[in-house]
Amino acid sequence: MDIAIIYSSKTGNTKTIAKAIKEQLQNKNIVYFGNVTEELPKADIYIIGSWTDKGNATNDIIEVLKKIKNKKIAYFGTAGYGGSEEYYKKLFEKVRINIDSSNEILGYFYCQGKMPIQVRERYEKMITQNPENTNLKVSIENFDKALSHPDSEDINNVKKWVKCKILSKK
Ligand SMILES: Cc1cc2nc3c(=O)[nH]c(=O)nc-3n(C[C@H](O)[C@H](O)[C@H](O)COP(=O)(O)O)c2cc1C
Repeated sequence: MDIAIIYSSKTGNTKTIAKAIKEQLQNKNIVYFGNVTEELPKADIYIIGSWTDKGNATNDIIEVLKKIKNKKIAYFGTAGYGGSEEYYKKLFEKVRINIDSSNEILGYFYCQGKMPIQVRERYEKMITQNPENTNLKVSIENFDKALSHPDSEDINNVKKWVKCKILSKK
């Protein structure tokens, strides 16, 4: 089984997860590991990952997903808002729309990923203008919680996910 790991990572969080996946698949036939390329690498299993950009995968990853037919696909993502399986499920439902029904979806994995400091600065500015806004307070708390992610537990979790959803299927 040839495996391609293709990911989009702007600030490195998703790349960290991609590397952990690769590590867990050592001794397997990884034919491609890296960013999106013009031509889709040939493989049997595609492990596709993206950071979350306005509630969805990045456009280049969406285009990759649309190209894949009659293969096995596993998806992984990082998102600024973490800790809720419900939220991750919603995110994946949006991604799933781009996966052709001829493929077998092996599963999906998400974890939280730290965000650029400018995001917190924007919230801080907004909260000075609107001190009663509890949503903003929650957003700042979430920002601070995200700062340590992906952490070693996220790495362990994604490795377990690979074992259970990918290695066990072959
Ligand atoms: C422009 C922009 C848009 C984002 N949109 C979302 C979003 O809609 N939902 C979310 O949970 N996180 C969002 N994030 C947070 C990132 O998805 C998160 O920090 C991710 O781990 C970044 O991954 P990377 O380091 O691989 O680029 C956004 C970040 C940026 C910079």
